[in-house]
Amino acid sequence: MNRRPRRNRKSAPVRAQVRETHLGVENLIYPIFLVDGENVKSEVPSMPGNYRWSIDTVMQELEECMDLGVKHFDFFPAMPDDKKDKYATSSYNPDENFYLRALAKIRKNFPEMVIMTDVAMDPYSTDGHDGIVEGGKILNDETIEILAKMTVAQADAGADIIGPSDMMDGRIEYLRTELDLAGHTDTSIMSYTAKYASAFYGPFRDALDSAPKEAADIPKDKKTYQMDPANKREALLEGELDYLEGADYLMVKPAVHYMDVIHELKENFNIPVAAYHVSGECAMLIAACQNGWLDYERAMPETLMSLRRAGADSILTYFAKDFAKMVRDGKLDW
Ligand code: PBG
Repeated sequence: MNRRPRRNRKSAPVRAQVRETHLGVENLIYPIFLVDGENVKSEVPSMPGNYRWSIDTVMQELEECMDLGVKHFDFFPAMPDDKKDKYATSSYNPDENFYLRALAKIRKNFPEMVIMTDVAMDPYSTDGHDGIVEGGKILNDETIEILAKMTVAQADAGADIIGPSDMMDGRIEYLRTELDLAGHTDTSIMSYTAKYASAFYGPFRDALDSAPKEAADIPKDKKTYQMDPANKREALLEGELDYLEGADYLMVKPAVHYMDVIHELKENFNIPVAAYHVSGECAMLIAACQNGWLDYERAMPETLMSLRRAGADSILTYFAKDFAKMVRDGKLDW
């Protein structure tokens, strides 16, 4: 045998030298749930180890993360019911929206942090949808006007990257234009390009109380705007539109179940591709580890590395802090 692939696997230093893919803390974006109030740190039941934080308690958490090298965050608001209405009007009004005020404080305390925000109506909407519901339908063009106000308000508060997670048509071009008109030419857009109508967002909707509401005239699911899990070519169409409309990053969501889509977008577009390892994917892994069926310190890094191998430049993951701790403690064992 003159070709023995095992020779390149014979020791840890040899494996390290020929490793094709690298995963570092700098690749990760850490999603954080914020709530109004003081002194709150309440665990999300279906995502052990993840919390809803009030602005006072989150500051120390953010400082710890920054010290560990986690510098990219994606913030999500859990809005109180009395701040929700049909047109998500609180979403762009700092007097009515603790989230915008919290972002401004975080910006001030951490000038070097990369702050990403979420743009969609669901946390602010009494209907629990990402767009305006009228006559049992989600209105596209009327929705993007609200998304634009939300976007500019978030950029005003100090966001570096805007994350439109709503899947309305044409929103990237509209948001880009409105950002530029408001003077925010440096604010990036990470488009949720291929966001699928997935069962894996359940724990997130519990955390934010943002699930579609039960009523005869409200669609029960998000299938008229989020993508059909059966479709891959359609992701190329969404990618092309987002690219032409001015997105700075294309995102695929969920992640592990959609690795082929990540790969496809990476092959076809010359802008960074992100993958969102979503709440349900995170919950599955934690549950198996808590049962003793999987080893967290091996399964978690392997999951993230696999997403990098599939083509993700950036990974949104609830494991960002734990991964950074493993790096610090020299525990990574590839
Ligand atoms: C809101 C939004 C969702 C997620 C991110 N932004 C939920 C949804 O579309 O219903 C899901 C994130 C996760 O599950 O971790 N538009």
